[in-house]
Amino acid sequence: MGQTAAVTIDKLHKRFGSLHALKGVDFSIEQGEFFGLLGPNGAGKSTLINCLAGLVRPDSGRLSVMGYDVVTEYRHTRRLLGVVPQELVYDPFFEVREALQFQAGYFGLGKENNDWIDELLVTLNLADRATTNMRALSGGMKRRVLIGQALVHKPPVVVLDEPTAGVDVELRQSLWRFIKRLHSEGHTIVLTTHYLEEAENLCERIAILDHGAAVALETKSELLARGICRSLHVVSSHKIETLPDQLREKARHINGNSMELRLRKDKDSIVSVLDAIRDAGIDIVDIQVVEDRLEDVFVQLTGEGGGRES
Ligand SMILES: Nc1ncnc2c1ncn2[C@@H]1O[C@H](COP(=O)(O)OP(=O)(O)OP(=O)(O)O)[C@@H](O)[C@H]1O
Ligand SMILES: [Mg+2]
Repeated sequence: MGQTAAVTIDKLHKRFGSLHALKGVDFSIEQGEFFGLLGPNGAGKSTLINCLAGLVRPDSGRLSVMGYDVVTEYRHTRRLLGVVPQELVYDPFFEVREALQFQAGYFGLGKENNDWIDELLVTLNLADRATTNMRALSGGMKRRVLIGQALVHKPPVVVLDEPTAGVDVELRQSLWRFIKRLHSEGHTIVLTTHYLEEAENLCERIAILDHGAAVALETKSELLARGICRSLHVVSSHKIETLPDQLREKARHINGNSMELRLRKDKDSIVSVLDAIRDAGIDIVDIQVVEDRLEDVFVQLTGEGGGRES
């Protein structure tokens, strides 16, 4: 307690013309947290991250990194942050290692940082591309270089805007191992992703943005507990023909001798629903209860399917 927050976002507003992209976003991220920033396409996640990175100027409100103001103390916050941008921005005239060295030079780091650059190249599976020109890399490889550039000065706060978009399965897994390691070494991690299973596996606390406002800000377990519903899968020994109204309104699928019912956690006790099924003359040979996952909670809160880009 009392420790300076890694990131403080204070009543942040940003408009692009008539579009109100950030509507008073207000929360903090503690040092050492693994924080997820989720939300459908256009929710304002990248705008928020770009404000943090000093690339977009907020209209009002304040942002600070480890207590330093992003606008007035930019030289400090720039050093404390490593941001992996969503857009693939790169200098086509650099080779991979040069791109990392150039970025390190920006922070006044020279040869003494070369071991870390080598380690980044190996961890990001770029060692055999070290002398390849940036423009000759595939999209996924360019993204790996951007990740390396963000980490080149070992910033205490690492912000990743969809780092795994367009990245193959193998690298995605090695990337998560690496990010988990950085987290265990004390780095604060802020992650944006449309892969909700990534957020569910990794993040300790999650903010969900929707239309420029935070619609949830909770620990992962609190958020999962918000899942209002769960599914009850029932298999009968006979074909399920008719259901009383009370059950029919809960049925999502009825297929031969099996059905799926959607139950409200706060209202429908499983025991009473099973009793009602038996009372309807359906004999039960098997049941399975499936709790809603983060993806389902996300859909309930934003009315969207996660906005995942294919
Ligand atoms: N430079 C800009 N000029 C005008 N509108 C912008 C600009 N940048 C973002 N916007 C708009 O602001 C809103 C928020 O965009 P933003 O990129 O922050 O969303 P996002 O949550 O990152 O979405 P995605 O999941 O697609 O990356 C969108 O409606 C977008 O069109
Ligand atoms: Mg974005």
